[in-house]
Amino acid sequence: MKDEKNEDIFPKHFFWGASTAAHQVEGGNHNQWSVWELAHASELAQSAHRRLSWMPNWEEIKDQAEEPENYVSGTGVEHYARYKQDIALLSELNLNAFRFGVEWSRIEPSPGKWNQEAIEHYKLYFAELRARKIEPFLNLWHWTSPVWFEEKGGFEKRENVKYFERFVKKVAEELLDDVAYVITLNEPNNYASISYLLGRWPPQKKNPLLFFRVYWNLMCAHRAAYSILKKHKPSVQVGCAPNLSNIQAKRPHSILDEVSTKCMRYFWNWWFLRRIRKYQDFIGVNYYFSDYYTGFGKMKNPSVPLNDAGFYMEPEGLYPLLLRVWDRFHKPIIITENGLADHKDQYRQWWIENTVIAMERALSEGVDLRGYLHWSLLDNFEWDFGWWPKYGLVAVDRKTMKRTIRPSARWFAKWIERNR
Ligand code: FCB
Repeated sequence: MKDEKNEDIFPKHFFWGASTAAHQVEGGNHNQWSVWELAHASELAQSAHRRLSWMPNWEEIKDQAEEPENYVSGTGVEHYARYKQDIALLSELNLNAFRFGVEWSRIEPSPGKWNQEAIEHYKLYFAELRARKIEPFLNLWHWTSPVWFEEKGGFEKRENVKYFERFVKKVAEELLDDVAYVITLNEPNNYASISYLLGRWPPQKKNPLLFFRVYWNLMCAHRAAYSILKKHKPSVQVGCAPNLSNIQAKRPHSILDEVSTKCMRYFWNWWFLRRIRKYQDFIGVNYYFSDYYTGFGKMKNPSVPLNDAGFYMEPEGLYPLLLRVWDRFHKPIIITENGLADHKDQYRQWWIENTVIAMERALSEGVDLRGYLHWSLLDNFEWDFGWWPKYGLVAVDRKTMKRTIRPSARWFAKWIERNR
């Protein structure tokens, strides 16, 4: 990589950061997801072979994947208690931005009853970030909701959006002073489809009508949150973080492939973003993969390697995706998640290098890209996969809770220092 060139291309105040989600790291959460984990851990362990043995590293993960404990977030990586240590790691890695969540179920454990202790905790958390000159990117909802909200039907019911609005209002009143960037919802497209079309995530319903309702209600929730936050603090920059894929036609000369590609781009990438286009100041992009479509569906791309979680790795697919997002919306873009499961740390440096090249190319073509937040700062609880996928720039030993910076992260930190 040419260092002199990077200096010119990346804007001076570019955010180089990392991303986490409350439920995946904090520990001690009680929400609809943690309840589901406890109810389904044994079943997930028993079905692991059927679901996961196609993965290239099955032999290495199978002991963990067949163990019920793997599927319980439990104490997390104790980030709730160890946040100062973890924020210090951000500084050590030369990062100047951090995306994290505030956990709704902690702040509002029962309807309308606020947990002031949790609110004070998050105030200290933000102050710690500020003290270290790290820009906070506050995330409001990352798939987990209080149990009482889920019992009322969660986002399946339009009338329940008012509960989310009440939570957002409370956050706005209590926690916005130290915050300039807010992300309302994480990947509403992924949540709605995996929970309500594939039935893999809680509440495990396979129901297209409910899928559409939940997706629609999340869109309403985003719009409402945007208005509440802007009313409270007009300068705050608000966005959403959808999962966007670089969707391509497998055979670009085939009309069938082109048509299915255009449809998928519309439904997966643009549908939600179009509906909130007047309700966002920046666009968050969570990029993990490229998908190739034929007229009849999604094709695998065996010419590129798989990461530990079974995703084909094409970091360069970020470039055409960024061009398309920019072309459609002309709003500042922040990469709110991007990374890979790589327990041997064999691909992470290569992945980041190629991601940087993709970002440089997009910037040189005029895309207003403002930041890159790597997923993730720490190894964490990966939803229905559990603990075996290792996404962290920093490895965590869950027995001792010891944090160890991975070699790729050391390299990235040096690269940032040279190029800032
Ligand atoms: C994204 C999620 C994030 C994490 C990564 C690997 O889809 O938003 O929480 O699980 O995938």
